[in-house]
Amino acid sequence: MRVVRAVGFGGPEVLEVAEAPEPVPVAGEVLVEVSAADVIFLDTQLRTGWASEAFGIEPPYVPGFGVAGRIAQVGEGVEEAWVGAEVAARVPGAYAEQVVVKVGDLVKVPEGLDKKAAAALLHDGVTALGVFDNAQVKPGERVLVTAAAGGLGILLVQLARAAGATVIGAARGKKKLDLAREHGAAEAVDYTEPGWAEQVGSADVVFDGAGGEIGRAALKITKRWFSAHGAASGGFAEGDAPGVTVRGIEQAQFTPEQAVRLAERALEDAVAGRMNPVIGQTFPLAEAAKAHEALGARAALGKTLLVV
Ligand SMILES: NC(=O)c1ccc[n+]([C@@H]2O[C@H](COP(=O)([O-])OP(=O)(O)OC[C@H]3O[C@@H](n4cnc5c(N)ncnc54)[C@H](OP(=O)(O)O)[C@@H]3O)[C@@H](O)[C@H]2O)c1
Repeated sequence: MRVVRAVGFGGPEVLEVAEAPEPVPVAGEVLVEVSAADVIFLDTQLRTGWASEAFGIEPPYVPGFGVAGRIAQVGEGVEEAWVGAEVAARVPGAYAEQVVVKVGDLVKVPEGLDKKAAAALLHDGVTALGVFDNAQVKPGERVLVTAAAGGLGILLVQLARAAGATVIGAARGKKKLDLAREHGAAEAVDYTEPGWAEQVGSADVVFDGAGGEIGRAALKITKRWFSAHGAASGGFAEGDAPGVTVRGIEQAQFTPEQAVRLAERALEDAVAGRMNPVIGQTFPLAEAAKAHEALGARAALGKTLLVV
């Protein structure tokens, strides 16, 4: 079977297609034929060597942390009835044609939901629900979402709008601002323009997916709650803001059981139309490097997936 392997730390060019032995499910595992693999911003950061010790990553390794597909085989002790089931799962080494997954980590793809949408929600949907639940957004509050047209950001825009908030989407460039508006932002602001935060004025709640300078400027105008889950533009936002509860990346780290429960909720929400993942671009597995290039160049809209 084919996998994508990072043969070193570096730019997207370190991602190469390689042949690997077909994995064999052992007791309590299943073999999944992958149809879509989730590409998250973290994959691009890890590829450069960032936080490699914390994540225990050393090249050569197969990137990726989430798949959707169909069960082809079951290991010992796993019910045969799973064979043929459409599932999604958070699993390391996801840029591959096949992966083995522990049966407890599987999420069934509900009837009526496309496997790509399921793959798109494995991280973004789970994180969106996790950080959104914590913030307890109230109707009428002003909610600022930065990196609003990213895979996670656009779901936060949708959730805040559905909770009755006035949503301000902040992102770079017209296409992204238009996307934020389409998904419920009442205001859309380009944070590459000087004075963007003054233009926003203030926000009761901020979901910061951008970090760096953008995050720091957003924190200064926050009144009640600041979620510092994003570091796309260089480091998680930090700083003191009197009267503001600041929550960091730890709130987006879930036990496998919590992640399964949140993923099930996200997939049900997608079936019910409460969360609509925006799959802006897909790439064949062999073009994983192009997917990483798009994320690094800020050229991706919404979610990016590899299709197998
Ligand atoms: N997805 C998850 O489950 C999850 C979990 C935990 C943490 N996070 C973090 O949350 C943040 C947003 O996640 P996401 O899934 O929405 O990411 P994404 O789809 O990859 O989008 C990242 C966004 O960051 C913005 N950005 C700002 N400065 C950037 C820069 N220098 N280089 C590249 N992009 C830059 C880009 O929008 P503009 O071009 O509009 O600025 C882009 O849309 C990321 O930092 C991610 O690591 C995500």
